[in-house]
Amino acid sequence: MTGHSAIIFNRSSLTAGGGVLLAAAVVFGASAFAGADGTAALVIAAGVFGWRPTGAMPPGRSEGTDGGAAGPTASDLSEIVHALDIAAIVLDAERKIAVFNRHATDLFPSISTGAPVGLATRNPDLMVSIDRSFAEGRSETVEFTERMLQGRRFIVTSTPLSGPRLLLQFRDTSEQERLAQLRADFIANASHELRTPLASIKGFIETLLGPARNDEAARTRFLGIMATQAQRMNRILDDLLSLSRIEMRAHLRPEGPVDMNDLIAQVIRGLEPLAQQANIGLRFAPPSDAAMVRGDRDELEQVMQNLIHNAIKYGRTGGAVDVSLRERPRGAAKRGLLEITVSDDGPGIAPEHLPRLTERFYRVDTARSREQGGTGLGLAIVKHILNRHRGALEIASEVDRGSRFTVVLELATV
Ligand SMILES: Nc1ncnc2c1ncn2[C@@H]1O[C@H](COP(=O)(O)OP(=O)(O)OP(=O)(O)O)[C@@H](O)[C@H]1O
Ligand SMILES: [Mg+2]
Repeated sequence: MTGHSAIIFNRSSLTAGGGVLLAAAVVFGASAFAGADGTAALVIAAGVFGWRPTGAMPPGRSEGTDGGAAGPTASDLSEIVHALDIAAIVLDAERKIAVFNRHATDLFPSISTGAPVGLATRNPDLMVSIDRSFAEGRSETVEFTERMLQGRRFIVTSTPLSGPRLLLQFRDTSEQERLAQLRADFIANASHELRTPLASIKGFIETLLGPARNDEAARTRFLGIMATQAQRMNRILDDLLSLSRIEMRAHLRPEGPVDMNDLIAQVIRGLEPLAQQANIGLRFAPPSDAAMVRGDRDELEQVMQNLIHNAIKYGRTGGAVDVSLRERPRGAAKRGLLEITVSDDGPGIAPEHLPRLTERFYRVDTARSREQGGTGLGLAIVKHILNRHRGALEIASEVDRGSRFTVVLELATV
């Protein structure tokens, strides 16, 4: 298939043909963002050694041990500043830059020793904060957004040190804010998904209590619809719980040997009736050897179940769904990789949707998915399961030609 494709996630442990197999991390769910704490610090030192603002002792030093003298020497300070995992700059009393580390250069490319701090940034709030910290000898915190830094937002803390010196730390909050936004969106989506069937059930209850109180036929019909809606809510909750359970165990790699041949045959047996209903030919030619991978059987079953079910649901009525297994050419990779491909000849997926398919609740056609009883959580679950298995999902699709979902898993060494 020559259409667009997206590699949904990867682990660098998966290598084939001597290279990193899957290089582009296109989409990760909300769970994948932790720890991205781009933080920067700016240390500003006034060169008047011996002056120490009240309550501004540098950590690890005390009045008793340094005899009330200058605190860290210039070389101490330089060493500390360079060791920091955040950007840091030292200014003298005239607010000139004395020392700075590489993270500071990332933030302020024009920074140079001896230059006034105003050359690095002219942010007025920061300037006021620096002045106040110097004058009053106490810590200040200020929000800082720099247009030159693509609108990244920082919380800047200025802490006076002995000298007088001032430590400014730039904590990048953009990533945290993005995460908070993702969480808020997720909760909004989940509530919305649950509210829809709930509203329908509530509506029918009111009708049954009121106008349709004595209408036998309506009661039977409405109760049927209510049961379907309740099942839907159940499915959403089951999927959400399943997702959170998988996420909780994300760092635990499943070990058990699983024969994918056998597993796929079982999933196909279960889905055969659905395929027949849609008049879809479900084809699977298992290779003669067992295809053993290291994994959790139930979870891998969920993966295959969702991919094959999707191919039936979103494939072409009267079309074909093919499931195939093969060992990926090993190349220089230490372990062999198994490729399981599910392809259909349905309408396919437009390229702009591909990178978003594994987001929770993301559906190309929400109405169609709901009609089919979908929650839009299936591929998010697939992604998390494969992630836990150090596996990968590759999606290739061409509009009007079909889609191909490939699962890549490490073969177990027997
Ligand atoms: N084989 C496919 N062909 C075309 N579109 C697909 C295919 N597989 C998935 N999609 C699209 O990706 C969306 C997300 O799939 P996903 O499995 O996450 O959710 P779902 O199938 O709608 O719901 P659920 O899996 O919870 O039943 C689907 O709604 C559909 O729009
Ligand atoms: Mg699905």
